[in-house]
Amino acid sequence: MIITLTNQKGGCGKSTATMNLALGTAALNYKTALIDTDEQKSCLETLGDHSKSNLTLYEAREDVEDLVAEIKSKFHFIFIDTPPHSHHIMYRAMAVSDFIIIPLQASPLDIRSAKRTIDACERVQKEVGHDIPCYFLLNRVNPRTKLSKEIGTYIRELYSVPLLQSRLHNRVAYAQSLMHGKSVIEHSRSSDASLEVTKLLKEVHRIFQEKS
Ligand SMILES: Nc1ncnc2c1ncn2[C@@H]1O[C@H](COP(=O)(O)OP(=O)(O)OP(=O)(O)O)[C@@H](O)[C@H]1O
Ligand SMILES: [Mg+2]
Repeated sequence: MIITLTNQKGGCGKSTATMNLALGTAALNYKTALIDTDEQKSCLETLGDHSKSNLTLYEAREDVEDLVAEIKSKFHFIFIDTPPHSHHIMYRAMAVSDFIIIPLQASPLDIRSAKRTIDACERVQKEVGHDIPCYFLLNRVNPRTKLSKEIGTYIRELYSVPLLQSRLHNRVAYAQSLMHGKSVIEHSRSSDASLEVTKLLKEVHRIFQEKS
């Protein structure tokens, strides 16, 4: 299963979510790859050497399709992190994906700015000639607000792309754990952050099984 996390908007949590999902999947004993297509190398530099775990890191740019074709058979899961503002790379990563996640922050401005990413996703689906499940992931939700219902309605009025039920809240654990090259699950298994990433992983795996 190949999962791309993408959104042309910078800073919405693509790399944070990609690393946590990839590390969480590897910890479940699945052979997992993470392809970093961002020249900022956020994932590669943050995670460093992971050669002893089930997670293998790769770097790619416009050649992401070739890399995926080459390594696909070796892994159960491949996660692709994409750069902001690079239409080409985002497009190519989407085209080889089985599942697309668009992280976004729970604000009207961020939601509206996802339009270009959604348009690209629709074009990719036409080009490849089949449906690629595509979902929004709300990130950095303030744990003390009950914004979810309103945000859900706001998103539905603008887009037909569904929203994952799981969401990631705004928590220092996301930065803290990555400071040690770890996911929030490895950092503290019983933390709220760990529980929400575990829930997200289960939801993504379940949706994929239902659709395949
Ligand atoms: N759920 C969260 N809680 C708290 N901080 C978060 C959360 N998600 C992301 N962040 C922080 O927000 C910032 C941007 O996150 P990240 O780098 O993952 O976004 P990005 O979409 O990959 O950015 P870019 O578009 O530049 O690649 C980082 O400082 C990260 O630590
Ligand atoms: Mg990033």
